[in-house]
Amino acid sequence: MTRRKPFHKPDTAQPRREATERAGARPSVDEMAREAREGRPEPVWLPGERPDLVAPVILHVEPNEDYALLDSGAGEKLERYGALTIRRPENQAIWPQRLPRARWDAADAAFTGDTDEEGAGRWRLGLEAQGETWPMREDGLPYLGRFTSFRHVGVFPEQSVHWRFMTDRIRAAGRPVRVLNLFGYTGLASLLAARAGAEVTHVDASKRAIAWARENAGVARLEDAPIRWICEDAVRFVEREVRRGNAYDIVLLDPPKFGRGPKGEVWQIEADLPYLLTLSRQILSPSALMLVLTAYAVRSSFFSLAALMGEACRGLGGRVESGELVIREEGEDPRLLSTSLFSRWVRT
Ligand SMILES: C[S@@+](CC[C@H](N)C(=O)[O-])C[C@H]1O[C@@H](n2cnc3c(N)ncnc32)[C@H](O)[C@@H]1O
Repeated sequence: MTRRKPFHKPDTAQPRREATERAGARPSVDEMAREAREGRPEPVWLPGERPDLVAPVILHVEPNEDYALLDSGAGEKLERYGALTIRRPENQAIWPQRLPRARWDAADAAFTGDTDEEGAGRWRLGLEAQGETWPMREDGLPYLGRFTSFRHVGVFPEQSVHWRFMTDRIRAAGRPVRVLNLFGYTGLASLLAARAGAEVTHVDASKRAIAWARENAGVARLEDAPIRWICEDAVRFVEREVRRGNAYDIVLLDPPKFGRGPKGEVWQIEADLPYLLTLSRQILSPSALMLVLTAYAVRSSFFSLAALMGEACRGLGGRVESGELVIREEGEDPRLLSTSLFSRWVRT
């Protein structure tokens, strides 16, 4: 399952630390990550009944005025983001393209970096006047799209199905709702939650991502909304929230496969997710509404995420829904582009 590239390249070599030190080299990323994990307590698996499981649940993103998948195939996708059409590599699209070549060639922007997942890459912009950013909307909320060197544009449209589900629940709650958005990126989930009336804590390890999210808050006129913007490693932050006894009604996790915290912390999804998910379970309030996990670019299945979520959420009642987030192409006889796996616990 590939959706997005990791933000940093993991060090795949795993020499033993002593050997590395003898050779006078710095410890590898894997070694540092292993050492940090050794100092951690074991994950806490709370007892109780496992919530009911509903799987597979396939959540579709349909073409809409903010976003559409116009065509896909031959390792690429052609999308409309607001007023711009954008052409990017897409490893999942192993089928043929349907639109004429002229439509693809007329894209307003094309990512021309190597198709290698780790490539820094560049963009070719069709319009000379096209700047680095452009106005976009998500469910009526204005924000900025941006051409990044990592081929991303500041939004992952497939997430919109989770966001709509979340904001409906926040509005229906009829009480104050506290949301924790981990790996929050450009802040759309945080802004939509705040607009729906929630009090939000947004955590991301990247100063640049936090700056972009705050810029989006300004564009959306939500600069005074109750959002705490926190630049910190997600695991470190949640560990502290457990110690402080703070609680949230909704926790969102959209972790990359690999990432770094601001103090050099290493995030590796396979090794760190169970620990972070059990911590997230511990900070759910007694009247919590949902715990939402998305995963991409991992060798996994929605059944593994479901089993993990089910164990982490024992004793909560409700149900676990697991499956894939897919984007439907625009037009007749559409193909479905799979973007990520998800698992969410929801109160019923
Ligand atoms: C793919 S984005 C999440 C997308 C977001 N949920 C959305 O749909 O808009 C992953 C984010 O995780 C952040 N990140 C990577 N490692 C992290 C860590 N150790 N702690 C916190 N955030 C991290 C990155 O800076 C990036 O903004």
